[in-house]
Amino acid sequence: MAHLPLWYISQVPPDQVLKAHEEFKAYDKKAASMDIDGNTLDKEHRDTTVSFINKDHWFGLQMFNFVSLANRECKWGYHLEDHEAVQYAEYGSKQHYNWHTDFFPLSGKDYDRKITVVCLLNDPSEFEGGDFEIRMRSTFKAPLEKGTIIAFPSILEHRVVPIISGLRCSATMWVNGPRFR
Ligand SMILES: [Fe+2]
Repeated sequence: MAHLPLWYISQVPPDQVLKAHEEFKAYDKKAASMDIDGNTLDKEHRDTTVSFINKDHWFGLQMFNFVSLANRECKWGYHLEDHEAVQYAEYGSKQHYNWHTDFFPLSGKDYDRKITVVCLLNDPSEFEGGDFEIRMRSTFKAPLEKGTIIAFPSILEHRVVPIISGLRCSATMWVNGPRFR
């Protein structure tokens, strides 16, 4: 598959998408927060319901494998070490996540987020709106279908545009490594 230098696209087998989605729906849900410590709530900027899945969930390991491929095929060459827990997100009517990056230069932590990976878990026919976009000079709309996986450098700005109707379900994970230097 041809990849834009700014993202890597692949496909998770349908049975795995279905199984992961069923498992994720059983987790407790809460309103999504922002910032590295996750203590900022601002529904103008981000309005999503999320669940954090246990870190060693098999789907997270699956996503990590795709990220390793992405890092090689897109020639990003990041030093990757570990990943965070999968975040399961549901976007209902009017919910969105405005332009942002997943990278926190002032985090003071001893690692940086390097690659973000997202998988759409339901069919785009189940919702209107909710496009996933990345911008770097131009804006690129990711061609997401159920089970599409997209990986991109966490330093790039991206957003989920407001949902007009229906429910959009996705899994996101961040892969990190030693701080940029
Ligand atoms: Fe993000």
